[in-house]
Amino acid sequence: MNIVVVGAQWGDEGKGKLIDILSKDVDVIVRYQGGSNAGHTVIVGKEHYVFHLLPSAILRKGKVCVIGNGVVVDPKALLEEIDGLEKRGVRVTPLQLKIAVNAHVVMPYHRVLDGLREKMREHRIGTTGRGIGPCYADKVTRCGIRMVDLLNPRVFRSKLQDNLREKNEYFKKVFGQKGFAFDGIYREYMGYARRLKPYVSDTALYVNGAIDRKKSVLFEGAQGAFLDIDFGTYPFVTSSNTTVGGVASGSGVAPTKLDKIIAAVKAYTTRVGEGPFPTEFDSKMEELIRAKGREFGATTGRARRCGWFDSVLVRYAAIVGGFDELAIMKLDVLDELKEISLCTAYKYKGKTFRDFPHDYEVWCHAKPVYETMPGWQQPTGKVREYRKLPPQARKYIERMQELVGVPIKYISIGSERDEIIVR
Ligand code: IMO
Ligand code: MG
Repeated sequence: MNIVVVGAQWGDEGKGKLIDILSKDVDVIVRYQGGSNAGHTVIVGKEHYVFHLLPSAILRKGKVCVIGNGVVVDPKALLEEIDGLEKRGVRVTPLQLKIAVNAHVVMPYHRVLDGLREKMREHRIGTTGRGIGPCYADKVTRCGIRMVDLLNPRVFRSKLQDNLREKNEYFKKVFGQKGFAFDGIYREYMGYARRLKPYVSDTALYVNGAIDRKKSVLFEGAQGAFLDIDFGTYPFVTSSNTTVGGVASGSGVAPTKLDKIIAAVKAYTTRVGEGPFPTEFDSKMEELIRAKGREFGATTGRARRCGWFDSVLVRYAAIVGGFDELAIMKLDVLDELKEISLCTAYKYKGKTFRDFPHDYEVWCHAKPVYETMPGWQQPTGKVREYRKLPPQARKYIERMQELVGVPIKYISIGSERDEIIVR
């Protein structure tokens, strides 16, 4: 069984926890898009891990983790992650981790450019500053550097020289900044290449071969549907396809081989960074949920914006994502509320939008249409069976299911591995 896990909102839906649970029963776990902008949290007892580039299942023994060709790999960030785990007693061997030979590499100038472009824009995106956008841009403009290039010093030298020739002019003329010296970057990246070489291979061949041998594969999505470069709230998005199409192009595994698509959905909504957010709370309510849900970015530490559950968004994500099942995450965060609202449509200039609109003005000014239900006002963290949830909580879950049109299979009621209800 080959499963895909994606986020259905603006990221931070709790994919890390869900993947950690599901990976118990699979053999191979594949990241296929995004980069170190992701922050997937896994909590095991007292230990708290945040993964950026490594698949979240790296903690499970006997599993193979793959960083696919669609990921942009920052070697510095990756090695820091590997070394960090080793310090905590988790060894990451080349048998356990495979990096695609054709994955693109994040360079120092990408990180700097990410920040400079943000400063210059009138409407900032609020990126994570990890160089993700500029790296994907180089991939598409065909001047990117791939893992395979790092392994061949002659090719790397010539590609780096080409890049610096152009980019240093750009840094000087557009931003009035000093460029980058070749020698420093060359030496630094040759050092990374030496360390990463044992992990690098053709991962498309590896994963397809594993599928042929009847192994099961879990594809770990990063970010969420509305950060998708095509379907998201453009330009306030990330630079990859976070929706299910990204699996095929980012791993080399054909859509015909995917058996099930599970979407992680937060029981409310959050967003980090700039951009429209129709159901955003007022500041008092936001502070309450932020504190209760510990809504601070796992990558940048930024406070997350919070709001009510928006079924207009998730229903659209379900259509373009072909979801088979939903996992409702962080339901317990709503435990104390007297009343809970769900957004069923947007209203703007006398028009009602039941489907996700694409006009920036509508996103920014539309008034959400809410349905309000009584809260359950009791803790749910100890519940392990659906029928033992308070009736109001079940009513909320069932209404979400009806509005989105996809069965809800998992309900998370805490951050620990076992704090989950399977329906
Ligand atoms: P996980 O996988 C939440 C957001 C940034 C910004 C926009 C573009 O943990 O869900 P980028 O650095 O990607 O160019 O920033 O996307 N963003 C995320 N928000 N969770 C993430 O990943 C995110 N990755 C990027 O805040 O608004
Ligand atoms: Mg995140």
